[in-house]
This record gives sequence, C-alpha cells and structure tokens, in this order.
Amino acid sequence: MRTIASTFLFILISASAMAQDAAPATSFWRDPFNDPLFPFYLVIGFVFLTAFLVIIVAIYMLQVLNVFIRKAAEERAEKLGVKYVAPPSYWSKFWDQINAFRPAEKEADIMLEHNYDGIRELDNHLPPWWKWLLYGSIVWAAIYLVVYHVTGSLPLMEGEYQAEVTKAEEQRAKLLALNPPVSIDESSLTYSADEAILKKGRQIYVTNCASCHLADGQGSIGPNLTDDYWLHGGSIKEIYAVIKNGVPEKGMISWAPVLSPEQIRDVAFYIKSIHGTNPPNPKAPQGVLYTEEAAPSADTVKTSI
Ligand code: HEC
Repeated sequence: MRTIASTFLFILISASAMAQDAAPATSFWRDPFNDPLFPFYLVIGFVFLTAFLVIIVAIYMLQVLNVFIRKAAEERAEKLGVKYVAPPSYWSKFWDQINAFRPAEKEADIMLEHNYDGIRELDNHLPPWWKWLLYGSIVWAAIYLVVYHVTGSLPLMEGEYQAEVTKAEEQRAKLLALNPPVSIDESSLTYSADEAILKKGRQIYVTNCASCHLADGQGSIGPNLTDDYWLHGGSIKEIYAVIKNGVPEKGMISWAPVLSPEQIRDVAFYIKSIHGTNPPNPKAPQGVLYTEEAAPSADTVKTSI
C-alpha cells in the first residue's frame, strides 16, 4: 500500500517536472486552454485519474478478499475446535521490527557487570529504525559524493546558479531582440503631433513646468514658450537639449535626472505643439526670432550632458 502510494506520488512529481520542461510554466498557466500542449496534459491527467481509480478499487477488492480469508480461517478453527488467532498484520509486524529493542521493564536482564562507583553499563542496542536511518544516510552520502564530486553528473549549487543566470541572460537577449529599446536623444529627434505623446507631454508639463512657465506656456519666471522668440533656439532638437541640460545659472534646472529621455521627448513635443497659441497675458518675447524655415545648423544644438 505504502509502495503503491509512493510510486504514484513519484510518477506525479516526475510528470509535472516533464511538463515544465516541455513549456515554460508561466505561459501555460496564463492561458491553459489555448496551450498547444493542452490536449497532451488532458490525456495525461485522464490516464492518472484512471490509474488512481483502478488502484482504489484494487485496494478495496483486497480488503474484501481479506475478510473472506479471515472468515474461512475462523470456520476452520471452529471445526478443529481451537481458538482462532488472527495473524499479525503487515503493519504490526513492521512496527515490532523497527522498534525491536529491549523495553525499559526488561533492562535488568541486559545490565552488565561493570560497576564504577554505582554507574553501571546497560547493553541495550539502538532501535532498528534509528540504525536504518544511519545506514540510509551513509548510502546516500556515498551516492551524493560520487554523483556531485566524482563524476560531476549533477551540478553543484554554484553550477545551478550559473546555469540559471545563463538561461535568464538568453531570455533577456531574446526579449531585447524582439523589442529593441528606443534610444531617444536630441540628435535624432523629429517632431510629430502624435496625440498620445502630446497628452503625456501635457501631463508632464502641468506637473513640472507650469510653476515657472505657467499653465498655458505664456511665461512668468521662465520665458514664454508659445511665441516665436527663443533664448536657446526653437527647433525640437534645441528644445529637447535645453530641457535635458537646463540653464542652471538662470534658474532652469537640468531635467535629465528627473525625467526619462522618453518623458523629455514627450514634454518637448508638447511645447512644440503649443507654439502660436497666443495665451492671455503673455510674457514679453525674449531671445531671437526663430522660424522653422531658417532652421539652425547642427552645431548650434547643445549635445553636452
Ligand atoms: C524653476 C522655474 C522653472 C521650471 C520649473 C522650469 N523652467 Fe524652463 N526655464 C526657466 C527659466 C528661468 C528659463 C530661461 C533660461 C535662460 O534665461 O536661459 C527657462 C527656459 C526654458 C526653455 C528655453 C526657452 C527659450 O526661450 O529658449 C524651455 C524649452 C523650457 N524652459 C522648458 C521647460 C520645461 C519643459 C520644464 C518642465 C519640465 C521647465 N522648463 C521647468 C525656468 C523654469
């Protein structure tokens, strides 16, 4: 019974390990019904269920059989006129065997003659279950030594760790190959009135910039961002660069430590989009006139960090 149960458990565990090898566990559990291996798992599950039921029925049949055997033995004993004594069960035999050591009441028989100042030696042996554990661990240690340190068939902890790291790196490389990170900086930026970007840009502007440039960009501490005049140039590349690098000595901080390159692009696009909106109470123009046609040459673009 115990062996059947443990075999069953072993098959279950090894099957689940196999299943993990066949497909990454996460992808299967995210959407099990549409997994290509779903029919396979279904069949395996069905087979296990059937095997389990067969085992249950078999155990039940054995019990019934035992009852009949016992009845027959009782009848035979009655015919012979002797008292029926049930044979000890496997379990009780097993229990007696693993606990076969001299109980405390019978210790007097095995007391040795040695007597040192009243301290006497008792010749009781250890309970078998304890010895079996010891022998088991010796055998296990030998197997362990050979497998891990002599033949190296299984990886040690460090090896396992390295294997996991390598696997994770492979996955990372695969993911990176699938969606390469977009590198954003002023040198390769072109403006587009992408609505999603402008919406995000507006959010960033309201939170971080409106305190100095006012809600509509009309300017207060910082200059008007909607007019045609710019202190640092009005091209998208220059706007990006000034937000990224700031003009710390004039009170405009560098936003690179606060905002990601993507966020700086979003807010730069937003500033470009509010050009010419003529908000009320604008701050007087500062800087030089900038027109899209007279775009500055690349060397006026600040690229320092
Ligand atoms: C603490 C006040 C302050 C905050 C906050 C601020 N700025 Fe400025 N900003 C300034 C000042 C002052 C200047 C003018 C710098 C100069 O005189 O060179 C400026 C200049 C600029 C310029 C250049 C304008 C030109 O004429 O060339 C841009 C673009 C700009 N800011 C965008 C932003 C953005 C985007 C944010 C939010 C992420 C922001 N600023 C937050 C104060 C601020």
